Amino acid sequence: MTTGDTGVIVLAAGRGTRMRSALPKVLHAVCGVPMAAHIVDSARQLQPARLAVVTGYGRDLVEAALQDAGVIFVEQPELLGTADAVGRCQVALEGCGTVVVLNGDTPLVGPGLLQELVAGRGDAPFSFASCLVEDPGRLGRVLRDGDGRVCGIVEAAEYEGSQGPAEVNAGQYCFDSGWLWAHLGEVPVSAKGEYYLTHLVALAYERGTPAVAVGCTPLEALGVDDRLRLAEAEREMRRRILERHMLAGVTVTDPQTTYIDATVRLAEDVTILPNCHLLGATVVDTNVTIGPGSILRDARIGEGTVVQQSVIEASTIGKDVRIGPFAHVRGGAMIGDECELGNYAEVKNSSLGRGVKMHHFSYLGDADVGEYANIAAGIITCNFDGVSKHRTVIGAYAFVGSDTMLVAPVTVGEGATTGAGSVVTKDVPPGAKAVGVPARVIGKARQARD
Ligand code: UD1
Ligand code: MG
Repeated sequence: MTTGDTGVIVLAAGRGTRMRSALPKVLHAVCGVPMAAHIVDSARQLQPARLAVVTGYGRDLVEAALQDAGVIFVEQPELLGTADAVGRCQVALEGCGTVVVLNGDTPLVGPGLLQELVAGRGDAPFSFASCLVEDPGRLGRVLRDGDGRVCGIVEAAEYEGSQGPAEVNAGQYCFDSGWLWAHLGEVPVSAKGEYYLTHLVALAYERGTPAVAVGCTPLEALGVDDRLRLAEAEREMRRRILERHMLAGVTVTDPQTTYIDATVRLAEDVTILPNCHLLGATVVDTNVTIGPGSILRDARIGEGTVVQQSVIEASTIGKDVRIGPFAHVRGGAMIGDECELGNYAEVKNSSLGRGVKMHHFSYLGDADVGEYANIAAGIITCNFDGVSKHRTVIGAYAFVGSDTMLVAPVTVGEGATTGAGSVVTKDVPPGAKAVGVPARVIGKARQARD
């Protein structure tokens, strides 16, 4: 069978009552990525002809979260169970000879298991993933006959037997589509008023064509139905992500205290010291050292840069930059190559040219700073007048003296100097020196170039 005629269904319509959350369960994140997106990513590696996601509870939110995933959304108007959810997809998957069905709350299922499910079906009407676990909890239990053939699945709500280790249904299935669509309508309603997809196991057995169980690991079978399972999934996913980066040439000195989202990209020879969080769309180039104690969210970090005990959000940092300790680079900052940002330097929505120095407790907000400008201690761009924000421009080679207040909109010209403690309310011409409150031009800057 070719994979070209495979259709995949991801079940994502449930609310997830046991999460006790307004957010649909499948949108809870594991290592920064919603659970549903993890499973869609794994499914995509089967290169299916069609990939349908069933939505119901919080439909708009789920569809928004997966809008770039190239999937077909199928609505399940009433949450009548997993068999009902699959049935809604028959039209969307018309022409697919194989139908893979995946629960949306099993983020640790990788493409390997899905391939094994497809290959392991053989001539059976369907295969499903199962494994032996110490504590089946709320998972469906797999029943076998005297010859070891699977003959049913009993859902936890209906199970009345003894406790202890048991084989459980992991929640991934691969069907012959002809068989699936012919028999789905025969699934009876349960005591809970739902149509259980798992009832098809008994049905196949009764027809003399039992399904086959394909073995998986307890972690792959981890269905995240509450916050305890969410934390378990997070721990395992984090371990896998760290392992992947370490094998790809990243030094992680303390994996126990290093948190990297699934979406982060790291080059070879990056070093991550303890207590760091690398989140979102962060991309780090080679020979960078992060940490200890840094948080990077949606940050791009250029080659050779060092970030020590600092926070960087939605910003681009050039090559060979020194940041921290205790700097905060907020959204929309572009920090040029070889810049130095020291203690309590805060930069927001600003661009800094090459080699700008900003060593001690200063704030640059809505500013454009030319190359090699010197931002001395305690400088503040007064960018907000209580109503709107205004820009500050600081020319190349300017020397902004300690404790200068730059009342925006204002420009300090190229090579200009401001005196310590000055309050600059009017533009300072290039090469001029301005001092006082409010600042007045008193001559040429010491370093002005003629
Ligand atoms: C289900 C299986 C159980 C298995 C377990 C593995 C059934 C009846 N039971 O139980 O045998 O051990 O998964 O994790 O299938 N969903 C819909 N529409 C619905 C109901 C659910 O789309 O009407 C979705 C949910 O969003 C979820 C998935 O289907 O992603 C599974 O539903 P869930 O309620 O988590 O089922 P479990 O009780 O975990
Ligand atoms: Mg579940």
